Amino acid sequence: MPQPRQASSRWAQLADVRDRLGPVSLRELLSGDPDRVERDVLHAAGLRLDWTRQRLDAGAWEALYALAGEAGWADALRRQWDGEHVNTTEDRAAHHMALRLPRDASCHIDGQDVVPEVHRVLDAIEALVQRVHDGRHVGYSDRPIRSVVNIGIGGSDLGPRMVCAALAPLAATTAEGHTLRMHFVSNVDGAALEAVLRESDPETTLFIVASKTFGTQETLTNARSARSWLLRHTDHPEAVARHFVAVSTHAGRVAEFGIDIGNMFGFWDWVGGRYSLWSAIGLPVALYLGMDGFRNLLAGAHAMDRHVLETAAPDGNAALRMALVDIWNHNILGACARVVLPYDERLKLVPSYLQQAEMESLGKGVHLDGSPVERDTGALVWGAVGTDGQHAFYQLLHQGTRWEPTEFIGVAEPAHGLPGHHPILLANLVAQAEALAHGKTAAEAAAEMSADGLPEPEAARLAPHRSFPGDRPSTLILMERLDPHSLGALIALFEHKIYLLSTLWEINAFDQWGVELGKQLAGRVLEDLQSDTRLHPHDPATLATIDWLRARLPAS
Ligand code: F6P
Repeated sequence: MPQPRQASSRWAQLADVRDRLGPVSLRELLSGDPDRVERDVLHAAGLRLDWTRQRLDAGAWEALYALAGEAGWADALRRQWDGEHVNTTEDRAAHHMALRLPRDASCHIDGQDVVPEVHRVLDAIEALVQRVHDGRHVGYSDRPIRSVVNIGIGGSDLGPRMVCAALAPLAATTAEGHTLRMHFVSNVDGAALEAVLRESDPETTLFIVASKTFGTQETLTNARSARSWLLRHTDHPEAVARHFVAVSTHAGRVAEFGIDIGNMFGFWDWVGGRYSLWSAIGLPVALYLGMDGFRNLLAGAHAMDRHVLETAAPDGNAALRMALVDIWNHNILGACARVVLPYDERLKLVPSYLQQAEMESLGKGVHLDGSPVERDTGALVWGAVGTDGQHAFYQLLHQGTRWEPTEFIGVAEPAHGLPGHHPILLANLVAQAEALAHGKTAAEAAAEMSADGLPEPEAARLAPHRSFPGDRPSTLILMERLDPHSLGALIALFEHKIYLLSTLWEINAFDQWGVELGKQLAGRVLEDLQSDTRLHPHDPATLATIDWLRARLPAS
């Protein structure tokens, strides 16, 4: 039985710093520290990271750097880059950075230089993109492809779906003079696929079946239904070959499904599902934006890789500082969630993308050696696009009894030509960060109401309701424009932060055993739902639920 490990004195030191800073408000930290902006705003790979509104001072940062030094953060990065099997429970490297290396680089994983193979697949993707864009890749009735349906889930869905939404204004125009219509189907709820098929033309639709394992129930069920739909419209012998491509690491299962492996784009087991956007899983991005767009996404991520790997000074390393801010807020100050607030409609899917990236990576309860963790690990990640959230849940962020750190993301250049909107949007972003940090005292609230002519007793009565505690920390991530390069850099920054957090907590960021039990039990429940007799043991509550559903499910 693994024993709990010794607590490092660095953690105790951080608790001392918290106690020292306890009585100091964020207002005081912001106004009384002349070096704050210079120290706590950092530029990395085109992004402006601003931690000035965190409840940290120079001494707190030093204590955090000491913790990171003791955890060996720089060595951990090097080991990942050297292709060591940092995914210890699956005995694999986790080297998604190799997917964004330039063609003339080299990178050895398990003794083999993987860069030539990575670029061979990229070139194959480019060839398909060109054929689709110039109309040479035709459907069963010889008409060009006009819409693409990506069928995948989790890492085989969230990344390309988020990037296509974010960069939609930059979608490429095909020879026909249109942009491709992109659809993403992930949920096994047939309503999702049916809605997409209803507005799709079988003659001009290309399906991408994206699954690292090619064994995922949801994806294969959707893919089979999509194939049946196609074959209800045609008996052309090449229908499946012309309308289905696969992205997977598992050629055998792709062939078994009936997709010619000549139409398969491969990747490798050293690419984790939630880190696979940069592999052939990014095919929808390449089709939508064109190959230059996809290559620029990779280049932006590579620029961030270089920043993170090459910046040895902890205070200059954006990913390390982001990780340390999370350590501070969650382990030292006790927050359990982080709220991600993109102030840009294009980035509305970033919170759900990060939910998988962070919560599947960091939601772990044991150390690498199997011993139980002695402090909280991955935070809950949630959020929504600003300004919508302001009119929904910000009330709790400002005045609720719980506080959660927030992360604002903003883009200086708008994606539209409507005058007036963008300054309003960005003013709201800045104002929210300011309001959360500074709050408003009861005396200030009362004085404001008195100045507005409210009688003093009424102002005093309302003051507690109209005051704000403040002291609520936030990070601001700003970029000049949203393009493939800056988006690639942003996503890669989060990836590195995740790995560094896993290093500080000594957990494995690259496995996801926690999703297995539900999958296993779903298989048994499905058999019970579809059988007239009880096949598997369940507790009485589960049996009652199964019986109730079985009596109502339509026969399939
Ligand atoms: O939810 C578990 C998971 O394995 C994710 O890690 C992965 O991204 C997703 O399922 C989809 O897996 P696949 O790409 O193999 O279909």
